[in-house]
Amino acid sequence: NFTPNAFVTDMVAELKEKLQDDKVVLGLSGGVDSTVAAVLLNQAIGQNLYCIFVNNGLLRKNEFQNVLNQYKGMGLNVKGVDAGDRFLAELAGVSDPETKRKIIGRVFIEVFDDESHLIEDVKWLAQGTIYPDVIESVSVKGPSATIKSHHNVGGLPDYMKLQIVEPLRMLFKDEVRRVGATLGIDPELLGRHPFPGPGLSIRILGDITPEKVQILQDVDSVFIEGLKSWGLYDKVWQAGAILLPVNSVGVMGDERTYEKVVALRAVESTDGMTADWVHLPYDFLMKISNEIINKVKGVNRVVYDISSKPPATIEWE
Ligand code: XMP
Repeated sequence: NFTPNAFVTDMVAELKEKLQDDKVVLGLSGGVDSTVAAVLLNQAIGQNLYCIFVNNGLLRKNEFQNVLNQYKGMGLNVKGVDAGDRFLAELAGVSDPETKRKIIGRVFIEVFDDESHLIEDVKWLAQGTIYPDVIESVSVKGPSATIKSHHNVGGLPDYMKLQIVEPLRMLFKDEVRRVGATLGIDPELLGRHPFPGPGLSIRILGDITPEKVQILQDVDSVFIEGLKSWGLYDKVWQAGAILLPVNSVGVMGDERTYEKVVALRAVESTDGMTADWVHLPYDFLMKISNEIINKVKGVNRVVYDISSKPPATIEWE
């Protein structure tokens, strides 16, 4: 019987006591967890919380600007850092999923470290780590380990020399959402699907180019907007599109095309540990498939992923 009000009151008091007049830096991702952590800390220490929102060039379409504006509107002390070109340059030619994750993790830390050095006398690093992150990164140490290295936990290099504060560390996702609602965060922001830290890089199978990122952003945007306008978005735990490293033959008018295939994925889940594919209505799939192929240049085929986790995973990489 978790009570969000009591959690907020206690946690704000605890954070005030712990942090006093210290400066704290926090990386915002646009997701629910880091946002709730930031608003909670903002209530406790106000402008001593320095939020950094990094564009890794692998976010959803228009997401960097939209979310940054939203954060500013919430009164958060936030700085947007557009490092998309730097990430994409480092990723050029890389196809291996774990290598992609490692590069993104490393570059993120470099960018973040540069930014946090600009804040004079910062003492703490705040993170939006939640309970399932803690559990999953512990299990990563086991023998069946390197399924995927989630880089949001424990990724702090020694040279940053900051103490860590993680106000959501004991909470499950639904509890985080309830805390967010108590804090008055926009329900639309709280209801956002989870999105992986490495972003679209792990949904572009094979190597990443700016053109592929743009194709996938466009496909993803048609899919997500479609889910919203059909009233399906909130019935799905997570959804997204995957750009496959194959071309297939199609026809357009009298001409033969040889273009990219995209897969759509939508899953039901409670914590991401297990997941079932969602039985989206055929009418919806038909409409979205047509819309994607008509609107997004370079794509001539859409498939729907009907695999559950286990044995598949939610992401394809
Ligand atoms: P999988 O693909 O392992 O995904 O079934 C489970 C959940 O975790 C997300 N995910 C990640 N999140 N960094 C993250 O921050 C990652 O490297 C990563 N890999 C997967 C995935 O989107 C899903 O919500």
